[in-house]
Amino acid sequence: MRVQKIRHRFECNLRFLLTWLVLSALACIIYVFVVFGSLINKTVLPSNNVPSTIPYVTVPSEYNVFLKFDSTPQTVIRDYSGSIRMNFLARDAIQQLFFHRGDKVKITSITLEDSNGTTTTPTAGAYDRSTGVQAYIPLANLTSQENYILRIDFNGELDFLDGGPRHIAYTLENGTTRYSIVFGNSVTSFSGLRYLMPCLDAPDFPAVFNFNIRHSSRYRVISNFPDLIQQSSAYTATLFNASFPMDSSQVALALIDVEMLPDTVQQNGLTIRKYYRKSVVNTISTDRIIQFMSTRSEQIGKVDVLALPLLFATQQPGITFYNENDVLRENLDLGLIDSK
Ligand SMILES: *[C@@H]1O[C@H](CO)[C@@H](O)[C@H](O)[C@H]1NC(C)=O
Ligand SMILES: *[C@@H]1O[C@H](CO)[C@@H](O)[C@H](O)[C@H]1NC(C)=O
Ligand SMILES: *[C@@H]1O[C@H](CO)[C@@H](O)[C@H](O)[C@H]1NC(C)=O
Ligand SMILES: *[C@@H]1O[C@H](CO)[C@@H](O)[C@H](O)[C@H]1NC(C)=O
Repeated sequence: MRVQKIRHRFECNLRFLLTWLVLSALACIIYVFVVFGSLINKTVLPSNNVPSTIPYVTVPSEYNVFLKFDSTPQTVIRDYSGSIRMNFLARDAIQQLFFHRGDKVKITSITLEDSNGTTTTPTAGAYDRSTGVQAYIPLANLTSQENYILRIDFNGELDFLDGGPRHIAYTLENGTTRYSIVFGNSVTSFSGLRYLMPCLDAPDFPAVFNFNIRHSSRYRVISNFPDLIQQSSAYTATLFNASFPMDSSQVALALIDVEMLPDTVQQNGLTIRKYYRKSVVNTISTDRIIQFMSTRSEQIGKVDVLALPLLFATQQPGITFYNENDVLRENLDLGLIDSK
């Protein structure tokens, strides 16, 4: 009787021990799966440590950029799409590709072409939101001193307060609202193009930026360089071919209602086109435009000037933005209020 009782208690403890062992084993297996799963998501390679500045090993020479905006002067559409074709030189054997992209610029496809014309698809690595650096891992190491072409398709969003492209609303004399689309960075910025498109967005990486912008036929587009308009039954596009390399921070563009006709002035060998609300502003001083414009505008031979409410002032090669209130204040100072 007494022995039976003891054995019973022993059996109880053995069962407890075995249950405990099985549960521990299960927990271990679950832990292994969790760790494995998190590694799969991180593409395993040492992509966790994205550098805060991009090393000078991939050197872009030229970007061919396609952008498509669906807004019109009367309707706001917050999404736009685009693609880039970036030609670059690998200065070293490279295991990872790095470039900048703003948080709202989402990559939909990416391919890398080597100088033999072989195209591969790199896998996505880590993205550091605070520095905007995105890593991609090519299938094979890049060869030192070889030229490559990186093609990226992406989608973006307008009207985020991160320095990306945005709509500017203004009213006409009869109270109707119109929208312009503007993108540009202040003269003191060292970067900013990443909020429009993926790129190497730092002063170390100047390049030739060519743009092909597809847009509503009710818009006219201005940018740093002279425009070429392509009109077909299917679409309207404006092309800008760069004649020299620029810093990424210097790229600027604007989509303006075709009904806003410019005042055109020829001075100092420059063609100056001024776009502004003639119902609000009576003129913009040509001398002031020339005084404050980017000196590289002389190489381009033109300056397109846009003044609108809530527009941040900037002077970049071939293009100048003014805040409308600044123009009104300046016209008062210059005594230009009553004369055209
Ligand atoms: C291109 O092809 C040549 C000859 O087949 C080869 O030696 C070279 O490594 C290739 N280049 C790349 C980047 O694969
Ligand atoms: C790629 O380059 C790294 C060093 O930069 C080297 O350790 C690795 O073996 C290379 N991989 C291949 C597949 O050549
Ligand atoms: C206001 O003026 C614009 C431009 O002249 C015109 O297109 C629009 O139809 C007018 N709107 C109204 C409500 O009259
Ligand atoms: C830009 O260059 C392309 C080819 O390189 C050419 O087809 C196009 O007409 C050029 N556009 C302008 C505005 O010069």
